[in-house]
Amino acid sequence: MKRLVRIITLSAFLITTHHALFADEGMWIPMLLNKNIDRMQQLGCKLSAEEIYSINRSSLKDAVVQFGRGCTGEVVSPKGLLLTNHHCGFGIIQRHSSLEHDYLTDGFWAASMDQELPNPGLTVTFLVRMEDVTSRVLEGVPGNLQENERDMRIRKNIRSITKKETEGTHYNASVIPYFNGNQYFLYVTEVFKDIRFVGAPPSGIGKFGGDTDNWMWPRHTGDFSVFRIYADSNNLPAEYSASNVPYKPKHYFPVSLGGYDEGDFALLFGNPGSTREYLPSYAVEMIAFKENPVKIGLRQKRLDIIGYSMDTSRLVRIQYASKYAGIANYWKKMIGETRGIKKADGVAKKQKAEQEFQQWASSRENEGKGYAEILPLFEKLYQELYPGDMATIYLREAGMAPEIFNLTTDAQELIRIAGEDTVSDETVQAAKESLLRSARGFYKNYQPQIDQMITNEMLQQMQDHMEQKYLPDIFGTIAKNYHGDIGSYTFNLFASSQFTDSTRFYRFMRKFNRKSARKLADDPAYLLGKSILEKYREEVVPSGRAVTSRIDSLQRVYLQAQMEMQPASQFYPDANSTMRVCFGKIEGFKPADAVDYRCYTTTQGILEKEDSSIYDYAVDQRLNELIASADYGRYADADGTMHVAFTSTIHSTGGNSGAPVLNGKGELIGINFDRNWEGTMSDLIYDPDQCRNIVLDIRYLLFILDHYAGEKWLINEMDIRK
Ligand code: ARG
Ligand code: ASP
Repeated sequence: MKRLVRIITLSAFLITTHHALFADEGMWIPMLLNKNIDRMQQLGCKLSAEEIYSINRSSLKDAVVQFGRGCTGEVVSPKGLLLTNHHCGFGIIQRHSSLEHDYLTDGFWAASMDQELPNPGLTVTFLVRMEDVTSRVLEGVPGNLQENERDMRIRKNIRSITKKETEGTHYNASVIPYFNGNQYFLYVTEVFKDIRFVGAPPSGIGKFGGDTDNWMWPRHTGDFSVFRIYADSNNLPAEYSASNVPYKPKHYFPVSLGGYDEGDFALLFGNPGSTREYLPSYAVEMIAFKENPVKIGLRQKRLDIIGYSMDTSRLVRIQYASKYAGIANYWKKMIGETRGIKKADGVAKKQKAEQEFQQWASSRENEGKGYAEILPLFEKLYQELYPGDMATIYLREAGMAPEIFNLTTDAQELIRIAGEDTVSDETVQAAKESLLRSARGFYKNYQPQIDQMITNEMLQQMQDHMEQKYLPDIFGTIAKNYHGDIGSYTFNLFASSQFTDSTRFYRFMRKFNRKSARKLADDPAYLLGKSILEKYREEVVPSGRAVTSRIDSLQRVYLQAQMEMQPASQFYPDANSTMRVCFGKIEGFKPADAVDYRCYTTTQGILEKEDSSIYDYAVDQRLNELIASADYGRYADADGTMHVAFTSTIHSTGGNSGAPVLNGKGELIGINFDRNWEGTMSDLIYDPDQCRNIVLDIRYLLFILDHYAGEKWLINEMDIRK
């Protein structure tokens, strides 16, 4: 099974369409760009691989960070100035907002460094270096080991590698599997913890088009926000302190006013989160046509409930803006993904490639490797996975959807230790403080009436659609005490729980002691959360793991076999939240018969979309005037218009948001923020005709910063090139 025999000759029909050599598909490992650089230069890249990634001198990678846990950002000044998307900073902007200071609606601009706002908990992470450590990870791990024994030894090796590689430094390290576990890289990072909020446009610019335009082209969103990295006096990471100073980066991106033409080379540096490009057809079919529809339906119900209340109250709009956007984002993405797979006949394409694979695997040369059994085994395993997989989806998307679930989960620790004599009073007190802290954040954005409707609807969905054996025990209680009437159960829960009303909760917590903790343990909201978690953690996940771990190891062998079958093709590893370089051409696309999209939008489109009666399309008064006067100065394109966004063939995914898009000289021309709806299936299957990323034109950002916000001091920090 594990022989690394290479098959040199290969008949042409074996090359699947998927890994065609010259498509711009791919998310490449920065330290291995030597393999791509010829193709990149052929497309117009003027940089060398060493200029893009080097551990011996400063290189482009030193200006790229992981922003928080889910986005990318880039350094654009010698004083640690950082750009990312508005939607990446959204939660942070929301946290600084209230009815008095509504930064979401009105924007925020620091006029000088001392007005920049600190953000406890927010980090940015630089990649220091990476290294192939596969042989060290697999030391003492023969190919014929049982999967869990294999995992154990690998984990042990990894622990000793990360320990050794970070000893005596302030760096973090992890060892991360690539190519579905066929290869391992050491990943050494430096994490900064004092990140301050510098500015963001109002939602009417930064979120223009809102959820209506999300995942869509043509797009007119000024999706950016500005932060700054602070360090201690030695330029090293430090917790927030008033005495910290702006971080001096090893590299920062010059910003280009030069624009681009259709067909130009573009490069994206970022942290794509997760893709699954090498799945068998059975998995793609299950995701697109079974999982997605269920998730979409459940999310739709929550969005209807929340959306209605947001439309009727300004307070609710502020409180639920971030939560709503979070639910809506993947709801819409999944709709696009399923449509895309259907339209591209994705499952049939995979099946065709699998037939070729099967022929190759059953051929004489490959006898005895076991490759011919892979696909039949996949089919069987995915069938086995299905019932538990559906239960998982209902438990997570419906069972954990009530917002109160988050607070009762946070209360678990306190309830558990309060009853234990061996735990000191101080520890109990600390847990109580911690719960109160969570509660303050929670109630700031909470409306029990909304949550009651959500809880009601979600429990109903579970009762109607889940297999009996996967239903949490609480449904037994509901059957017994409420004749199975979910509505009266939730009514009662919200009327009597200590958690569902902030006044009740704080009153209770003021008198909290070890004895009264018992009352919390019997609280109906707490019992609901507990019942769902128990079912999930103690039954569904463990029994699912038996199948998923077999699927994972089969996937490892499957990819290895595919690489063996196509030695001339260049494979790229699935995204795994590590830094990648992606490149392609600036290009529009043709999504449907008779529709031909240009590769860029202009401010003209903002005026065309304007409609003050629709929240998503209300245009800020001042922006309106600026566009009307058409005074764009040096930020205008050569054609005199103001470009807002553009599309390219760059292969990107969630996590690439906020990522720098560079021209062939390594100058910043835009900030990645989205993909087109027709192309969201690129997480499973990339189609070069349909898949595009959507990028904010950096000149629009500068125009807003300079002409709209008057933030000249920030413009002056940057290296802006003609
Ligand atoms: N679709 C983009 C991404 O996945 C932007 C999401 C934020 N915008 C929104 N309207 N929800 O992150
Ligand atoms: N909008 C996504 C992000 O936040 C990017 C994408 O999925 O294309 O990372």
